[in-house]
Amino acid sequence: MKILAIESSCDETAAAVVEDGRKVLSSVVASQVEEHRLYGGVVPEIASRRHAEAIVPVVSQALEQAKLALDDIDALAVTYAPGLIGALLVGVNFAKGLSLSTGLPLVPVHHLRSHIASNYISNQELKPPFLCLVVSGGHSHIVMVEDYTKMKIIGRTRDDAAGEAFDKAARTMGMPYPGGIELDKVAESGDPRAFKLPRPTVHDAPYDFSFSGLKTAVINLLHNSAQKGVELNKADVCASFRYAVVDCLCTNFLKAADDLNVDKLVIAGGVSANSLLRRTLFEECEKRGFKFYMPDKSLCGDNAAMVGAQGYYEYLAGKTAGTDLNAYATMSIEE
Ligand code: KG4
Ligand code: ZN
Repeated sequence: MKILAIESSCDETAAAVVEDGRKVLSSVVASQVEEHRLYGGVVPEIASRRHAEAIVPVVSQALEQAKLALDDIDALAVTYAPGLIGALLVGVNFAKGLSLSTGLPLVPVHHLRSHIASNYISNQELKPPFLCLVVSGGHSHIVMVEDYTKMKIIGRTRDDAAGEAFDKAARTMGMPYPGGIELDKVAESGDPRAFKLPRPTVHDAPYDFSFSGLKTAVINLLHNSAQKGVELNKADVCASFRYAVVDCLCTNFLKAADDLNVDKLVIAGGVSANSLLRRTLFEECEKRGFKFYMPDKSLCGDNAAMVGAQGYYEYLAGKTAGTDLNAYATMSIEE
């Protein structure tokens, strides 16, 4: 079954053709990041307008790359929640129009579910159940993936998402948006124990995260030293901050796996590209005899191939929508 998938939840307009949820026949991503960089973050109004301009050429390119026509497609999948509402609406409305004109079934896909599904492309043997750490710019969840379309939230952030904390720390150090990627690179040459940063926990919720205190701690460290005219080693600050965030993520994730008796661990979302997170979990899982899966780095960020992968399983579960489909800025992954 060939699915044409569309993604427009944030600042990437993407389309892909995916066969049977696992085989990527084409994947096109048009990024707006250069333009948003001028403002230090995503400007929703600009994002919507750029999606409106890019959606037709991106979808056409995805079909062309797959050497297919619309006649060869069996279903359409589209990200409908969560995300920037104006951005989501561009993809949803386009997909609805396409469904109406072609008669193809339309499958709505939850953005975080699709991040998880990027793993079905990168790890062909992977099947639920497993425990997944979903870490992106807007979310940080520990999710029990009981089946392809049945998920339970085990832990979540109480304030900032991991990616947001990375981006804000990076911005304070003058790195361009989205700074998480550069912070990760600079951290590679630094000493992770150079600066002591807190490891905030949430009382009575061992699987929940809290990153805002950690973010404030590193921002205060940078501001205080600037006021005193002391120049800190940037690589050491990046390494210490990255170590603290990854430590919080891994501690709770591994504890949840132990407590729930799960030995199959998966990571997903933009932050799953983080080198230290990948290395640490790989080593910790090896020590414990757990199976560990991660998406290819090229599939960690927003793309439509992952939407096609999850869309396939949503379709098999009977989840299709009519032309009254709406987009939603927030929605639980459990729904
Ligand atoms: O999943 P994603 O592409 O978009 C959302 O759904 O939010 O995640 C983007 C986030 C950004 O905050 C970005 O800085 C972060 O993922 N990110 C990273 C790395 N690569 C991307 N954070 C830390 N280390 C990385 N290597
Ligand atoms: Zn995302």
